[in-house]
Amino acid sequence: MKNTVVIGAQWGDEGKAKITDLLAEHADIIMRYQGGCNAGHTVVAGGKTYKFHMIPSGILYDKAICFIGAGTVIHPESFERELNELKSEGVNFRNLKISPLASITMPYHIEIDGYTEAHAGKGKIGTTKKGIGPTYSDKYARIGLKIQDLYSYEALSEKLDIILPLKNKILKNVYGFEPYTKECIISLCEKYAELFKPYVCFDWQDLLNRYKDRTILFEGAQGVMLDVDYGTYPFVTSSSPIGGGAAVGSGYGPSVINEVVGVSKAYVTRVGEGPFVTELTDEIGGKIRDIGHEFGVTTGRPRRCGWFDAVIMRYAVLVGGITKVALTKIDVFDDFDEIKICTAYKDCRNDKVYTSYPTDVFIHKYLEPIYETMPGWKTSLSDIRRYEDLPENAKKYIAKVEDLIGAPIGIISVGPDREQTIFADSI
Ligand code: GDP
Ligand code: IMO
Ligand code: MG
Repeated sequence: MKNTVVIGAQWGDEGKAKITDLLAEHADIIMRYQGGCNAGHTVVAGGKTYKFHMIPSGILYDKAICFIGAGTVIHPESFERELNELKSEGVNFRNLKISPLASITMPYHIEIDGYTEAHAGKGKIGTTKKGIGPTYSDKYARIGLKIQDLYSYEALSEKLDIILPLKNKILKNVYGFEPYTKECIISLCEKYAELFKPYVCFDWQDLLNRYKDRTILFEGAQGVMLDVDYGTYPFVTSSSPIGGGAAVGSGYGPSVINEVVGVSKAYVTRVGEGPFVTELTDEIGGKIRDIGHEFGVTTGRPRRCGWFDAVIMRYAVLVGGITKVALTKIDVFDDFDEIKICTAYKDCRNDKVYTSYPTDVFIHKYLEPIYETMPGWKTSLSDIRRYEDLPENAKKYIAKVEDLIGAPIGIISVGPDREQTIFADSI
């Protein structure tokens, strides 16, 4: 396998974890490079379902190193919960490593996330309330804490003397929260230091050098349309889920990357607020949600559902650097008479047609999808393992999507299980 980045090509929950888990069999190191426990990743293997948030989905294979990179944000309490849940499922963490440069989500980040959402009115983003935005804000404002700070009392103390007076002023005067004492933060940090100790990889430079010529798999979280630069801003997350994010957040630069697999559902879902041109608020959307079990792994919220959108997919191929597509959940359409694909948008104010993605999301309320309708196949795809065995109408649907998006479809997923996969060619 080539060194591969797996990214979401839509608004998250595309089935990235299933694809990462599949490819992880051939990888020597698997790297999470952005995001935090806002992610909810599901892997179904050997009849068991595993849920991941922060831990790379490749952890189910014994041999590969799983590395949580510098571009991530880690909420210690959520990390501990995830670890314990997975341990009780029999997962072992011998190969788990955490970059000392990863950022820490502190309790006040979670409080601020909740407060901001509650007071944002129409600007509410519908975040996962995991403190993601406030943690990244502090990181970029250069007042964040990193994992390495937990292991040097002197550095931590010096840093807190700078950070805390400022942070406390903001917490008290802007949000009306109780300020944190230095002692309280230090005692939290002592607890966090114990928690992370078995996994912190201080010799990460040696590790990455040793694995540079082996097979590297990068696991993205969220999706291109949630990217802080390229997504439906401001209705986005605060990190860079595009392929390029792997080169920033992992510790390897761009030159090691050979392939970017963009994972896309055969339809589109979104959780939280923000524009969604092909959203279906009728019974068809409900049917997709029911058959596809479209409820969030992290928050349990029902996902908004809509038809496949080739406009955002073409955009994702460009800005995500996607070289190959994994098309998932095509089996959800097994019982549909017809399936629609959005090929372009029309502005209902002036009939202007957009075939490229309009980045000003405040005009999206005026956009209507232009659809092409394809016939369904009315048979179950879930036991099919070879492309040749797919019904003609499913092949036509896949060919149409491929034609519209400008990237080859290399993997077709026909069910949640590892086995329920068709490799159109070998990745
Ligand atoms: P991720 O965040 O991109 O890893 O995706 P999630 O795990 O949040 O959501 C994808 C859901 O779809 C999970 O419940 C998967 O088990 C499931 N899934 C993945 N691929 C397929 C597929 O091809 N067909 C069906 N029916 N379910 C799938
Ligand atoms: P995975 O990795 C779907 C969405 C939230 C919200 C916006 C900002 O499972 O695909 P945040 O908490 O990040 O500040 O929320 O981003 N969001 C996701 N939606 N899948 C995810 O992750 C998401 N992570 C964040 O719903 O709209
Ligand atoms: Mg998810």
